Amino acid sequence: MSPSIIEFENVVAGYSPSLTILNETTLDARRGEITLLIGPNGAGKSTVLKTLFGLLLPRLGEIRFEGQRINGKPPRELLAEGIAFVPQGRNLFGSLSVRHNLELGGITLPRAELRGRIDEVLQRFPRINERIDNQASTISGGEQKQLEIGRALLLRPRVLLIDEPSIGLSPKLVEQIMTMLRTLADEGTTVLMVEQNVRTALRYSNRALVLEMGRLALDRPASEILQDPDLNRLFLGGHARTSAAG
Ligand SMILES: Nc1ncnc2c1ncn2[C@@H]1O[C@H](COP(=O)(O)OP(=O)(O)O)[C@@H](O)[C@H]1O
Ligand SMILES: [Mg+2]
Repeated sequence: MSPSIIEFENVVAGYSPSLTILNETTLDARRGEITLLIGPNGAGKSTVLKTLFGLLLPRLGEIRFEGQRINGKPPRELLAEGIAFVPQGRNLFGSLSVRHNLELGGITLPRAELRGRIDEVLQRFPRINERIDNQASTISGGEQKQLEIGRALLLRPRVLLIDEPSIGLSPKLVEQIMTMLRTLADEGTTVLMVEQNVRTALRYSNRALVLEMGRLALDRPASEILQDPDLNRLFLGGHARTSAAG
């Protein structure tokens, strides 16, 4: 079994002192795996990612990255240590060029190094390379999401947190993004992903964690959930289907 890179141990967090969203949440994500976080709307999936990335301070419990406690560290520090976050929705500077958006992602790198890193990212995303001088707001939704992921990869993160990357994308583009995330994971990156497009995402994931009311309700290999009609019905709200049905 791959080692746990990210660990939540009895984490309690919320947006105000009176409102607890993560309720003694315990979970982990392992090296070189895609861990898929699923569950009903409002279960706290995005809150897990935000708390992990230092956008929300846990009230209790411990968050560990490669065994070290990271509670209370700000996002820029976590980014420098190797955790990247691609939030839900559109997070680009629309009026700036694709290249400029990439450069901003690597603003902390020495200039000479940045150039090489951008070339490295562009090799991974040929479509972005073709659009490099375009204004970011004018490229397609799929290209924008690829650009966001590319920007996050500039710092060569060891952990990628990604929240609902498939929103608004065609099935074909979703497969492309998932394939790219799978490649990243196979190269050793630890991916923790929230996705509503559960059946498709499960096919690319190693494990699925089901979150309900801020607690871990299920932790299973992704293939097991896809194949087990009971789990499928309980957690995906439908009947078992062949994986090809997506
Ligand atoms: N910025 C915020 N301020 C206050 N409450 C929030 C905020 N963001 C989310 N919440 C609440 O926290 C709960 C969990 O939200 P979230 O983690 O976004 O759920 P999920 O991603 O699983 O749909 C929801 O009840 C939501 O309304
Ligand atoms: Mg969410």
